[in-house]
Amino acid sequence: MLVYPIFDKMLSRKDKEQLLRQQGIMIWMTGLSGSGKSTVAIGVERELHRRGILCRILDGDNIRAGINSNLGFSEEDRRENIRRIAEIGKLFVDTGIVTIACFVSPTNELRQMARNIIGSSDFREVYISTPLAECERRDVKGLYARARRGEVKDFTGISAPFEVPEHPDLSLDTSRMTLEEEVTAVVELISKRLRPE
Ligand code: ADX
Repeated sequence: MLVYPIFDKMLSRKDKEQLLRQQGIMIWMTGLSGSGKSTVAIGVERELHRRGILCRILDGDNIRAGINSNLGFSEEDRRENIRRIAEIGKLFVDTGIVTIACFVSPTNELRQMARNIIGSSDFREVYISTPLAECERRDVKGLYARARRGEVKDFTGISAPFEVPEHPDLSLDTSRMTLEEEVTAVVELISKRLRPE
């Protein structure tokens, strides 16, 4: 008779969550380039870290420079970009980590795919609704100016579509709120998941 020793069974999400004394969740930030997704994410991470909550931010800089360095901005590449990010995000969520994804994710279909991969109960959609005019005015990376000159093709908001989310869990317009208000709103959104009994 085969006896399976107990040590060949991987520990569960619940085991990790008990160790960390927190619950995993995905905060999915969507919005135009330059809308402020990463700034809000960093503010949320700092606040949660201060409260003893382990977080992980996934954003364009650490994902498109590394695992997704072979992808561009065609519809197909954006789909593959978001698919991989959602799969990676799921690994973090399943480890009990509060995970914050900051990607343009410009269509309902892409955001729905991410939600399906991660699972609806672990997924919160935060729409950073800063208007295009304000993102273009900030133009942190100079990409809007280049896109207007036709030097960047398929640029979201200029020459590629951005579909406004239909039912986000939260909408934040960074041209009308302070960072502190935005961070408070996101923390409030997930507050029930932070210190479960
Ligand atoms: S997504 O559409 O596939 O979700 P992602 O969030 O990874 O996009 O990357 C967007 C970032 O890439 C933008 O903030 C911008 O800095 C840069 N970028 C470069 N080219 C484009 C483009 N054609 N459209 C949108 N963003 C671009």
